[in-house]
Amino acid sequence: MKWPDELIFIPNSRMPQKTTTVRMDGRVCVITGATSGVGYHAAKRLAEGGARLVLVCRNAEKTAWVKDELEREHQTSVRILQADFSQLAEVRQAAEAILEEFPRIDVLINNAGIHNTRRTLADNGVETVFCVNHLASFLFTRLLLPRILESGPARIIQVNSQGHRFGGLDLTDLNWERRRYRGLQGYGASKVAQLLTVWELADRLKGTGVTINAMHPGAVRTNIGMNNGLLYQWYQRYLLWPMLKDARISGEAIYYLAAAPEMAAVSGRFFHLTIDEKPASHALDRALGKQVWMISETLTNLAGTNG
Ligand SMILES: NC(=O)c1ccc[n+]([C@@H]2O[C@H](COP(=O)([O-])OP(=O)(O)OC[C@H]3O[C@@H](n4cnc5c(N)ncnc54)[C@H](OP(=O)(O)O)[C@@H]3O)[C@@H](O)[C@H]2O)c1
Repeated sequence: MKWPDELIFIPNSRMPQKTTTVRMDGRVCVITGATSGVGYHAAKRLAEGGARLVLVCRNAEKTAWVKDELEREHQTSVRILQADFSQLAEVRQAAEAILEEFPRIDVLINNAGIHNTRRTLADNGVETVFCVNHLASFLFTRLLLPRILESGPARIIQVNSQGHRFGGLDLTDLNWERRRYRGLQGYGASKVAQLLTVWELADRLKGTGVTINAMHPGAVRTNIGMNNGLLYQWYQRYLLWPMLKDARISGEAIYYLAAAPEMAAVSGRFFHLTIDEKPASHALDRALGKQVWMISETLTNLAGTNG
């Protein structure tokens, strides 16, 4: 049976996944949001593969716990930095600390993400999910980019989502002032914006040895959404979680994208775990992507800088 493009994620979710046994000894991998779920399992798999890790997370206690576990179990070096990605000043501070301390960055994995059922605004006045899921990863990538370019060949992986298919991106109403906020669409908007900037950055990186790809980490059991109300938490725990997979598959897929030799020159693609997949057509609108790029630069104060 031939599936329509819009539903191709269904058969892809059942495909056997690719793996690699190639090691990443000594490679410096920066990963955000490694205290739980997808990011935690990616950090674990990278540590097992010998990578040196830089974990950028918001909760100091949880991050220290992950560092201890990874260093104890995998005898690798783990540096931790604290940053709340709803505060762009903290994203900048984390990037500055990394640039000061690490002469090379081989892999950057932007994973930290949230899903809110209610509209809230971050300190900079931008809707929080858009700020954390898109603007923070956009800014972090741009600030680290000069070092990533010096380190090439290097890879950037954006942990995106099938949630981009929900749409929701309206550049005239990024803060949901005109529209009633809906959590899935707010989440979708952030993921569409991130995807559109992946294609833009991939074009700019052509010929540099640095690649950028986006990936959906599977439908997996994690804490995402558990910051919402009791009813939502109940729905997630008792109805959603039983249908979801173990987030170890996400860690394995991210490891593949970060380490597999056959991925070295692949850039500007969307992967369903490790399967190359066509995103929703609204996330392929390159004219819209150029506008998103400019707006993202403005909202992160990157406009007119080389950052
Ligand atoms: N789970 C799925 O089925 C699924 C599907 C598609 C895409 N994804 C994507 O996978 C990524 C990871 O999510 P997950 O499912 O693993 O959820 P999770 O278990 O809630 O993990 C999210 C991570 O992001 C961190 N984070 C959240 N808000 C942050 C902020 N303001 N500043 C810094 N870090 C922050 C969390 O830190 P704390 O531990 O401090 O909360 C945690 O480490 C997200 O980008 C999500 O959109 C997940």
